[in-house]
Amino acid sequence: MTGSRPAKDFFRPLAVGAPEPVREVPARPSRAIHFFDPSNAKMAAKVPDMVGTVDVLLGNLEDAVKADNKVAAREGLVEIAQATDFGPTQLWTRINALDSPWVLDDLTTLVPAIGDKLDVVMVPKVQGAEDIHYIDRLLAQLEAKAGLDRPILVHAILETARGVANVEEICGASPRMQGLSLGPADLAADRRMKTTRVGGGHPGYLVREDPPRVDGVANLEASRSTYQQDLWHYTIARMVDACAMHGIYPYYGPFGDISDVVACEDQFRNAFLLGCVGTWSLHPKQIAIANRVFSPSTEDVAHARRVVAAMGDGTGAVMLDGKMEDDASLKQCLVMVELAEQLAA
Ligand code: GLV
Ligand code: MG
Repeated sequence: MTGSRPAKDFFRPLAVGAPEPVREVPARPSRAIHFFDPSNAKMAAKVPDMVGTVDVLLGNLEDAVKADNKVAAREGLVEIAQATDFGPTQLWTRINALDSPWVLDDLTTLVPAIGDKLDVVMVPKVQGAEDIHYIDRLLAQLEAKAGLDRPILVHAILETARGVANVEEICGASPRMQGLSLGPADLAADRRMKTTRVGGGHPGYLVREDPPRVDGVANLEASRSTYQQDLWHYTIARMVDACAMHGIYPYYGPFGDISDVVACEDQFRNAFLLGCVGTWSLHPKQIAIANRVFSPSTEDVAHARRVVAAMGDGTGAVMLDGKMEDDASLKQCLVMVELAEQLAA
């Protein structure tokens, strides 16, 4: 059984001096979460120069770091974090999975050494609320021991079928929950989907037009268009609803075909339109794409401001450019205006 204990029951500081939990997720932009491997000297050397150019820098300790390099990655992250002033850029890490031999050392090393700089811990392969409870308790102990006065937030990757089934309880499992990302590669494998890509679409996942009919008879010889469908729509929509319900942030995740910037932008834009606030960047060129896509366009913001102005006290209905605007469209426009203001701050 999972998640049988209500969140308020389990979340309390474990020790005198442990930081009080925060319920409000700070409204700081995190359009691009840029992954780097702290055990890769070339990549690590670039980190200080990236400060201020991206909303989040994430030192990755999990998949894509070789087993032999796990300790070097952990130590490399400590070294980089201690030597760098991150200014407006958030520092996150992706720790190893809870069933791995490395995760305990990840947290017991990182929190005392760089807990004052770490904004968010990303937890992979989260299956249910119990995984978040474990991380939450451990963080509370380590924060109290280190005398930290700011709780480290938690971000879960949705990348198992069980995690998707438990998505609502994961989002509400702790006041530390900052957001969720889609993990399309692990999720595809766990669901036994027949894909071999990291995110994105598949040319075989499509819908074909109905055949034209002549005197009621279908002409199956006629050429017909096909339309590629989005493999990830269901999961993203489900994740967005669960995050909105709990007041935390949904994110797309990785897009592995670095060379296909056009499809990458399409995939990110779909996620933005559905409600996601950001995505992962696996290569510097994906940062620019994410920053562009996850910021509302100047035209959309200008239109939203016009609707807000035209709606006066916010009730009733007005006609603007031949379109009806009312309380509900005002709320949509406020989402856009608030995001623009948050990004401009
Ligand atoms: C990310 O971790 C993924 O599995 O897609
Ligand atoms: Mg994964």
